[in-house]
Amino acid sequence: MGNIILTGDRPTGRLHIGHYVGSLKNRVRLQNEGNYDEMYVFIADAQALTDNFDNPDKVRENIKEVALDYLAVGLDPSKCTMFIQSMIPELTELTFYYMNLVTIARLHRNPTVKAEIEQKGFEESIPAGFFTYPVSQTADITAFKANLIPVGDDQLPMIEQAREIVRKFNSIYGDTLVEPEAVLPEDERCYRLVGIDGNAKMSKSLGNCIYLADSEEDIKKKVFSMYTDPNHIKIEDPGKIEGNVVFTYLDIFCKDEDFDKYLPEYKNLDELKAHYQKGGLGDMKIKKFLNSILQDELRPIRERREQYEKNLDEVYRYLQEGTNKAREAAARTLEEVRSAMKINYFE
Ligand code: TRP
Repeated sequence: MGNIILTGDRPTGRLHIGHYVGSLKNRVRLQNEGNYDEMYVFIADAQALTDNFDNPDKVRENIKEVALDYLAVGLDPSKCTMFIQSMIPELTELTFYYMNLVTIARLHRNPTVKAEIEQKGFEESIPAGFFTYPVSQTADITAFKANLIPVGDDQLPMIEQAREIVRKFNSIYGDTLVEPEAVLPEDERCYRLVGIDGNAKMSKSLGNCIYLADSEEDIKKKVFSMYTDPNHIKIEDPGKIEGNVVFTYLDIFCKDEDFDKYLPEYKNLDELKAHYQKGGLGDMKIKKFLNSILQDELRPIRERREQYEKNLDEVYRYLQEGTNKAREAAARTLEEVRSAMKINYFE
């Protein structure tokens, strides 16, 4: 059997360059390599509601934003099926059956969920829906028999949970489901992008993101406000590379050609770093360089986004067509699941 690729995002905000290097870029690469039978990318609105159930407007608005971000980075509806999670009731159905195959103790051990519970201040009043979202995520993956899941490393515990449920299901009811595996970015430095303030994570709630939809002006402002080395005050001072956000981003985004184009007095990033560490290289210059690079990377994305923004009918049509197609695939798996579980009474 060929590959089935699947992944998704919660519609709780616009996507940022952390999503881009951590997962979106990888998806577009997989899409364009074409080594798969099906590729699904979906908007996980039901999952977003598990901790935003009191804010349906936010989730609804961000369906559009995330869909625009998908199209903007180059996901192509003719190659990749885009759909909306909650429009596929088979996923909810499957979730309920999988609840039997997982214990509360096991769910408690999920480090990503644990961190989120702390971060959201749920403590003792965790909504059951939120607590069990890894089970619903297993349904998302297995309903399509997906085997390759391009995600960031924070999602590894979900994939592990899914694998356990698949094994348990198959051992009780017979071989039906496919065990998925995560596909992480090749470059480990892309797993988690630091925020522009130097915080370990780029996140909307911390206000330290560069969004894919940001204007040229916004990007520039953010780059020039980046955390560098607080002790590098005068240009002559030696500067630190470690923890310096500008260099962290240059490590990820800069190519040797960028030096020919914007900083021909250096051959490559090693030379630039050496000069900064020795002293004599100002923050202004490295920020200007990074800004040029980021502008080049994000300009085509923003322009594509603006085109689609003018054609929202088309965007929703892609989502609807994708949802119809995905629903048929999920329904086929559900038939197999019902038959395996012996709950196909009228056949
Ligand atoms: N948990 C993912 C996120 O927070 C979204 C998601 C839901 C997902 N279901 C999935 C990702 C299935 C990969 C596969 O962004």
